[in-house]
Amino acid sequence: MVIVYRSNTGFTKEYAEMLGKAEKMKVCPLAEAQGKVGPGESVFFMGPLMAGHISGIDQAMKKFAVKGVCGVGMSPASQRTMDSMARANYVAGAPLFYLQGGWAPKKVGWLKRRMVNMVTKSTREALRSKGSRRSPEEEAQYQMLVKGGSFVAFENLEEIRAWLRGA
Ligand SMILES: Cc1cc2nc3c(=O)[nH]c(=O)nc-3n(C[C@H](O)[C@H](O)[C@H](O)COP(=O)(O)O)c2cc1C
Repeated sequence: MVIVYRSNTGFTKEYAEMLGKAEKMKVCPLAEAQGKVGPGESVFFMGPLMAGHISGIDQAMKKFAVKGVCGVGMSPASQRTMDSMARANYVAGAPLFYLQGGWAPKKVGWLKRRMVNMVTKSTREALRSKGSRRSPEEEAQYQMLVKGGSFVAFENLEEIRAWLRGA
């Protein structure tokens, strides 16, 4: 199995490379997969969430035998995040995973930055009004939404690694 990924601001790339190194798997960006990954080859696809949609998933599904999919977003991992991702990204017969990446406002164009800021406005305001009552997790999420930041961590890959070893 090959890890094929798409990444706009680098978080998914970091996860894909970490995972490839840990599991000794070939890693290839979707844009360079032509000629490097055979058609119909088994692929674990990783892509960033954009308005709920896993970017690149359609292209990957058309070209390869996608055996598993991972969406990388800015929200903390939760059942709610998983459920909404599963509703918007149906992948027949392949398990779906979620990883929290981060938010890099300086690496995206103004329009996308504005779109994200609009979507996260109510969360930011709710967290801001909590003030010093924010839990450490909420504080980290608040700082990331306001300034940008990364939640990429090797430990987050455990569930995917366990699945890959059994696949
Ligand atoms: C236009 C746009 C839409 C986004 N939509 C979502 C979303 O629906 N859910 C989410 O969790 N994150 C969303 N994000 C945040 C990215 O998914 C997040 O920053 C991710 O870690 C980016 O991965 P990358 O660095 O590999 O591109 C969005 C970001 C942009 C720029």
